[in-house]
Amino acid sequence: MSDAVKSRTVRRRWWWSLWGLMAVSAIGITAVFVPPYLTGSSFAPIDRSIVGYYASLVIHAAPAGLTLVIGPLQFVPRLRTRYPRVHRVAGRVYLISVVAASIAALYAATVTPSGPPLQVAFYILVMAWLYTAAQAYRTIRRRDVQSHRIWMIRNYALTFAAVTLRLYLLVGTELSKAIPSLSFRDIYTTSGWAALLGNVLIAEYFIVHRILVPSARRRRRGSATATEAPQPLSQGH
Ligand code: HEM
Repeated sequence: MSDAVKSRTVRRRWWWSLWGLMAVSAIGITAVFVPPYLTGSSFAPIDRSIVGYYASLVIHAAPAGLTLVIGPLQFVPRLRTRYPRVHRVAGRVYLISVVAASIAALYAATVTPSGPPLQVAFYILVMAWLYTAAQAYRTIRRRDVQSHRIWMIRNYALTFAAVTLRLYLLVGTELSKAIPSLSFRDIYTTSGWAALLGNVLIAEYFIVHRILVPSARRRRRGSATATEAPQPLSQGH
């Protein structure tokens, strides 16, 4: 096996491991956090005296869980090329779920007792979630596959904030045992912002290094070969 083939195999295994980790954590978080809301209870205590708060969480959690689970499948190239219809239908269900979950999240973010610093992070997340979904839809309607892929990576990075938020919350809760001055509100607010900003940065890093740089390199190589290739003989003489 040549060095180039070996390094491509290693890289491919590395990306599949990351994909597996992403899919398993997405399914795990959905399986733990969403079902309580489908049976009239909740994962954490909810203040049911706030009008519409619990109902908005139910309307939010169900479609949001769907987006978290559908997302990883949409990034599998073989599924996309072998079953394009499945990709299209799942993509529509995903986008409709983003819109439904966003509208409910907008209400939940308005009435939540979590405080303004976290509410601002939630509002930004909702707007960015809707905007990237709209761009993903618009670009694929124009058959611009590369831009669609980029916007969907951005969108799923925001969806995945539901996973990283809960991981940071877990770490923060453990930390607070050693640092008793850390309140739950501090941990919750920090985790919300860290999930939003961290996921956006990782997605942009991935987009630049795995899509934009290789595609610019391919384009440069293509134009270099075109200039090196023998020019057709002029027929005018
Ligand atoms: C990315 C866009 C998202 C936004 C803007 C968002 C926003 C919100 C807001 C504002 C709340 C209320 C929090 C509070 O009052 O403290 C909430 C709760 C919740 N969200 Fe999301 N969310 C998003 C994605 C997701 C996803 C993908 C899931 C999938 C599992 C999800 C599942 C839940 C659940 C289960 C709750 C209830 C609280 C809990 O039990 O943890 N959310 N979300």
